[in-house]
Amino acid sequence: MTKPVILTGVRANNELTLGNYFGAIKPIVEMAKERADEYQVNMFIPDLHSFTTPIDHSVLQQQIVQNARLFVAAGLPLDNDNILLYRQSYVPAHSELTWILDCFTGVGEMGRMIEYKDKSAKIGDDRVSVGLFNYPILMAADILLYDAEYVPVGDDQRQHLEYTRHIAERMNSQFGDIFTAPLPVEKQQEFFGKGQALRIMDLQSPSKKMSKSDDTGKGVVFLTDDPTVAAKKVMSATTDDKASVNYDPAEQPGISNLLQILALLRAEPLDQVELEFKGQSSYGDFKRVIADEVAAFLTEFQANLEAVDDNKLLAVFDRSETIANEQANATLLRVQQAVGLRPKAD
Ligand code: TRP
Repeated sequence: MTKPVILTGVRANNELTLGNYFGAIKPIVEMAKERADEYQVNMFIPDLHSFTTPIDHSVLQQQIVQNARLFVAAGLPLDNDNILLYRQSYVPAHSELTWILDCFTGVGEMGRMIEYKDKSAKIGDDRVSVGLFNYPILMAADILLYDAEYVPVGDDQRQHLEYTRHIAERMNSQFGDIFTAPLPVEKQQEFFGKGQALRIMDLQSPSKKMSKSDDTGKGVVFLTDDPTVAAKKVMSATTDDKASVNYDPAEQPGISNLLQILALLRAEPLDQVELEFKGQSSYGDFKRVIADEVAAFLTEFQANLEAVDDNKLLAVFDRSETIANEQANATLLRVQQAVGLRPKAD
């Protein structure tokens, strides 16, 4: 019997931050370790998605491998047969199914996608690619090819998951049971827990999320930052003039963010960390503690990253891609038969 599938994709062309680490990488690795017995966990690098908006193609190949290394450095086991780690473009069925789904999807339906509207508004019409427009359809193919029912998605991907369910149901009602639809977002959140809601904020502007798109980079700790540089970023984090450490995101967003970061780094409950520093008046001393922890974390993480065995990683890609191709091609054939591209089996 095949196991139920959990599937998640992580983009290849991000310069990843401490926020990505605690908000995405670490929870995914922990989830994979916990579930990859009862479930098949598909983790893939959506390399075809990575240039829906312009990128520097001369570094893409290196970024694809680097992204996988980050997961390994964060503790992803490479010797678990129930975890597949593959590159999307090495499984050509993703592109083929996308084309078929394209022809059953309305232009209006895609035009209503919020992420598309936001991104295209920023870029300006002539530079918006058809790929950006189409991207949720590729995402649906990513999921449907493996009959994946469990897909951990943040709120920004909610609409895309809903579209995946719609297109699966639409095709099933026209052609019979060819797809397994993923569970609705509410059920996903029940299954995965709401832990991911937690967010690390920008050190300079603690009311916004820490993200690589910050133009100066001063409020953002990158996983590749030199530890001493990162420590300096923490030391110059924005605070307030209350001279009292408290967890109060509304009134003291900077201090609260630092408490949150410390709790994550130490893997301690937030209220325990708050208790330890509550009322402390020297923000300098408080920041020093976090700066040191951040530097120590980066030192260790970067050493883990150095130690990743690329040959082993490539072997895992190979093994996973063989299995992924078998599974994806079986689904693709079902669809091809249903729409008349292949003779039906008797
Ligand atoms: N769209 C996702 C993101 O921006 C990445 C992704 C691509 C994905 N295909 C997927 C996530 C399929 C889950 C399932 O983060």
